[in-house]
Amino acid sequence: MSAIAMRNQEAAPADIKMRAAGVDVSYGDKQALFAVNVAIETNTVTALIGPSGCGKSTFLRCLNRMNDVIEGCRVSGQITLDGVDVHDRAIDVVELRARVGMVFQKPNPFPKSVYENVAYGPRIHGLANSRAELDDIVHSSLRRAGLIDEVRDRLDEPGTGLSGGQQQRLCIARAIAVEPEVILMDEPCSALDPIATAKVEELIDDLRERYTIVIVTHSMQQAARVSQRTAFFHLGEVVEQGETGQIFTKPVDERTQAYITGRIG
Ligand SMILES: Nc1ncnc2c1ncn2[C@@H]1O[C@H](COP(=O)(O)OP(=O)(O)O)[C@@H](O)[C@H]1O
Ligand SMILES: [Mg+2]
Repeated sequence: MSAIAMRNQEAAPADIKMRAAGVDVSYGDKQALFAVNVAIETNTVTALIGPSGCGKSTFLRCLNRMNDVIEGCRVSGQITLDGVDVHDRAIDVVELRARVGMVFQKPNPFPKSVYENVAYGPRIHGLANSRAELDDIVHSSLRRAGLIDEVRDRLDEPGTGLSGGQQQRLCIARAIAVEPEVILMDEPCSALDPIATAKVEELIDDLRERYTIVIVTHSMQQAARVSQRTAFFHLGEVVEQGETGQIFTKPVDERTQAYITGRIG
């Protein structure tokens, strides 16, 4: 299926952007996820929380098929984007990863200029017809990532010369530049200081207007601050998911209760 055909599929129920149903993942003979069901609502921040090793990153990578590149990793079950299975043979995985972008734990700008970091994706996806159009995309992506004022005069300097927090916002600008619909973030603030973390959290809240966001975090405070929906993972299962306030104040499952009160994890 072409990118255009993918976008034209009959819409899933309007408020569900992505859905995982019965997802199992194994690395070799070790199973990491068990029958995971998660619904990801449109223009919502969904937080994935749970103890280290419970499968949060594994699940996140299912959403844009980044597990495909891990040798020995097998994924089964259904994962849909706008109601279309991301494993459909006809899905172009490069296009999928443009629609479902990713920001990693450690800021990882390319060893190129600030400008080129953001221009790279639009160039390979053919999103700009001229240098002026490319300039527009770069500027608007940096603006939406809350970085433009800090880098306007430094576009030709190396991205790796920015501060850690600026580098992470540059990576967010890079993800935004290819017009994604969903942005996956795997502990995006864990390498940042509290001030840079606050900026990225504020940015996540702004981005929700335009994008659907899934964020893995080991910080329950962060989940409570930035998300509207939370899924709690434990030993490879999703134990509980729902509205963030409810998960943190009135969890139904005693394992969730134990985690949020600090008894496990
Ligand atoms: N590339 C990999 N190869 C083998 N096992 C892995 C790999 N990545 C993760 N795992 C295993 O899968 C389980 C879930 O890991 P992960 O998804 O990274 O958890 P989390 O992000 O919640 O800390 C762990 O037992 C981990 O050791
Ligand atoms: Mg992880």
